[in-house]
This record gives sequence, C-alpha cells and structure tokens, in this order.
Amino acid sequence: MASVQGAEVKVMGLTKTYGSNQVLRSLDLDIAPGEFIAIVGRSGGGKSTLLRMIAGFERPTDGGVLIDGEPLRGRNRSARTMFQNARLLPWERVLDNVGLGLDKKDWREKAEKALRQVGLAERAGDWPAVLSGGQKQRVALARALVREPRLLLLDEPLGALDAMTRLELIERIWQKRKFSAFLITHDVDEAIMLGDRIVLIEDGRVTMDKRVTLPRPRKRKDQEFLTLAEEVLERVMGDEAGLINGERDKIEALASA
Ligand SMILES: Nc1ncnc2c1ncn2[C@@H]1O[C@H](COP(=O)(O)OP(=O)(O)OP(=O)(O)O)[C@@H](O)[C@H]1O
Ligand SMILES: [Mg+2]
Repeated sequence: MASVQGAEVKVMGLTKTYGSNQVLRSLDLDIAPGEFIAIVGRSGGGKSTLLRMIAGFERPTDGGVLIDGEPLRGRNRSARTMFQNARLLPWERVLDNVGLGLDKKDWREKAEKALRQVGLAERAGDWPAVLSGGQKQRVALARALVREPRLLLLDEPLGALDAMTRLELIERIWQKRKFSAFLITHDVDEAIMLGDRIVLIEDGRVTMDKRVTLPRPRKRKDQEFLTLAEEVLERVMGDEAGLINGERDKIEALASA
C-alpha cells in the first residue's frame, strides 16, 4: 500500500458550547503533516469534543479548522476516526467489514493488506462475533487504514490490547503510512512513547504543548523519559491544584459572608 502524505491541521479559536456548557474555549492547535500528536488531560476537559470537531462530525460554535489550508465544512474527507468500540457489522465477515464501500476492482487486495498490517490476515473469513475484543479493535483499525487516511484520529483506541502490543502496532503503522496522527490517551507513558508533541487539554484549552525530542524507538527506562513522564503527569494531575487555587477567592468570600 502506498504511503500517504499527512494532512496539515490548523485549529483556530475553536469554541464549542452545549447549552450553557462551554466545552472548547477558543482553542488553537496546529498539526504539521505527518506529525504525531498525543492528547492528554483529565476527564471532561474536551478532548473527544475536539476530535469530533477535527473529524467534522459537529459544527463549531465559533472559530474553525483548516485542513491543508482549506476551511473544513462537513465531514473531514482526509481523516478516519477510531473510537473505543469497534463498531463492526455483525452480518459481514471480517474481510468485508474492512473492505466495505471500497472500489470494486481492488477492494479485496486492499482489505487483505490492511488486515495483514494489523496481524489478522488469517481471520479474513471469520464473523466478527468469534473474534476477541482486541481482535475486533484491530479489524476496526484495518478498516480505518484501508482508506489510506492522511489524518488518523484515535480516541483511546485498542483498549482491549495490552499496552505493549497497542503501542508497537500504532507506531509501526504510523511510521509506515506517514499520516498525521491525533491520539487521545490516558496513559502518559504511551503519550511519550508515541508523541512528537504532548498536548494537555484542560477546561477546553491547550494548557501545555510539549515537544518530545527523544529518539525512536523510545525506552521507558531512559532517565530523560522518566523525567518527562513525571513532568507531564504532574501537569495532568496539577489541574486539581489549579482549580482549587482558582476557587480559593470564591471559597474565602463565601466563608467570610
Ligand atoms: N453532545 C454533547 N452534548 C452535551 N454535552 C456534551 C456533549 N459532548 C460532550 N459534552 C460535554 O462536554 C464536556 C467535555 O466532554 P468530552 O467528551 O470532550 O471530554 P473528554 O476530555 O473526552 O473526557 P474523557 O477523558 O472522559 O473522555 C463534558 O462536560 C461533556 O458532558
Ligand atoms: Mg473522551
């Protein structure tokens, strides 16, 4: 399968409001072609909402997204998204799930290649129901890859795989295909293993954007890795302290009232 050129993404002043809940607050983020961005942050910070906006599943309340310099309207055609659940069609065999909707002339070769890349070539003729959770997720990954996306959006994907397999699989495929990657993960080690940059999203904003310069493949035991992991973890957990600081004035005002 030919490698693809990664898409360039520019998120500019992106704001998303649900009712009175402002989930994204004039968020800015750039992704260079082929870059791997690892997104971290506490639950409810707006990570998945940002992903859905970049995928073009929802419309921003304000601001917008440029893909290769073009304003994104409607679905992002250069992107594929992978969610936590595999969402396979139970009445189609594995190979057909992967190749669904592809051009008739070469769908089979393409689907077989994608299955091979996720290590499931020999399961092509099986029904989804007989696969393990991790295998279903790998089929979903193959289904995303078969379209040769220039941007892969991953929302805590492959959770049913062990951390090592997940990491190796994602890194190997990214290095081969050269798409731009946006990975949401709760695992700081995974973020540092994979990310060219680690981006922390808190309260609808980017509050840390850190370039990882460690050479690949990265090793968890390196002192530099450990130092970085500690720093990022502290920043991720630190928003609790930040919230308390921000609330202190209010709390004091209440207490003295
Ligand atoms: N469709 C929706 N309608 C209303 N509120 C929403 C909707 N989607 C998300 N929200 C709200 O937006 C906020 C951020 O949600 P989001 O799913 O983006 O967080 P997250 O950072 O991905 O969290 P997690 O780590 O738990 O997945 C939450 O308060 C959530 O309730
Ligand atoms: Mg989420």
